[in-house]
Amino acid sequence: MVQRMLAKGRKVVGMDNFCNGSRKNIEQVLQDPRFEFVEIDLSDLSAYRIAAERFHIEDSISEVWHLAANSDIPAGISDANVDLRDTFMTTFNTLEVMKDLGIQHLAFASTSAVYGDHKNIRLHEDIGPLLPISNYGAMKLASEALISAAVEAWLEQAWIFRFPNVIGVPATHGALLDFVRKLQETPDNLNVLGNGTQQKGYLHVTELIDAMLFIREFAKDRLAYFNIGSDDDGVTVRFMAEQVVAAASPGATISFGEGNKGWVGDVPRFVYSIEKLRALGWQPALGSAVAVKLAVREIIEQENCR
Ligand SMILES: NC(=O)c1ccc[n+]([C@@H]2O[C@H](COP(=O)([O-])OP(=O)(O)OC[C@H]3O[C@@H](n4cnc5c(N)ncnc54)[C@H](O)[C@@H]3O)[C@@H](O)[C@H]2O)c1
Repeated sequence: MVQRMLAKGRKVVGMDNFCNGSRKNIEQVLQDPRFEFVEIDLSDLSAYRIAAERFHIEDSISEVWHLAANSDIPAGISDANVDLRDTFMTTFNTLEVMKDLGIQHLAFASTSAVYGDHKNIRLHEDIGPLLPISNYGAMKLASEALISAAVEAWLEQAWIFRFPNVIGVPATHGALLDFVRKLQETPDNLNVLGNGTQQKGYLHVTELIDAMLFIREFAKDRLAYFNIGSDDDGVTVRFMAEQVVAAASPGATISFGEGNKGWVGDVPRFVYSIEKLRALGWQPALGSAVAVKLAVREIIEQENCR
């Protein structure tokens, strides 16, 4: 995202505490004088305020893209503080800092997890009730609610992107990375969480960025919220495991667990509607299967270069 912003001629300030990201992922953009970076915990309001103010005084910040969050859903289920701190408080503090500094535009990475488990009903943006089944989903939904209230009170415009499973590089987490790493440790066998029937849509990160920038440019509602996803019914975890085995360790056996959930809070199967986004004028070119095959190659290369 930073690379794309710089290519558009913007100046960018990045903030991350590297609890999951890594400095290596931003080495290249750090060479660009229009990019500045602060290592900071965004759940610490006073540190956040001081850092943002420093840049704002120098060169006024026109908008914030808030993408920081916990991305380990099981960790957030065993300890609710994780999502309170990294998923919700980072949003709360972002709004506090923006309000203090008079920054009026916010783009926010939300998730399909806000919907909860609606079984086979196609998820469109106005479906309800929204009852998330993970603390991560709950804290993202609370973040959306807070942004909505800010738009009512003072924030000029917000774009909320609800995306499902995103794949590609740099990969910091997710099933594909997990499979590749497991096979590096035990090349003869891949242990998969759940019975492999979980089925979801997958979107390649390059397409996700295209879609977010498209919505940012063309959605004019003050509170614009959009699903971003693949255009199909997705692929199964079994398919993903088979792709990783074929590319990384052909001939390895795959052992599946029990039940159709990888972990508590996992929504095993959902179908996404991207009609609203299509009506705005954007649709993905890759399907889930192609995106998975592409990401498998990229992630294997990433892991071989570590
Ligand atoms: N990857 C997906 O499939 C997916 C799906 C839906 C939504 N999202 C959302 O997209 C955004 C980006 O996700 P990602 O997949 O790139 O995950 P990621 O873990 O690679 O990126 C999130 C970043 O937030 C940082 N972070 C977490 N807590 C922080 C804190 N307190 N202070 C400062 N930095 C902090 C992490 O170090 C990490 O670099 C997140 O908001 C995530 O919830 C991702």
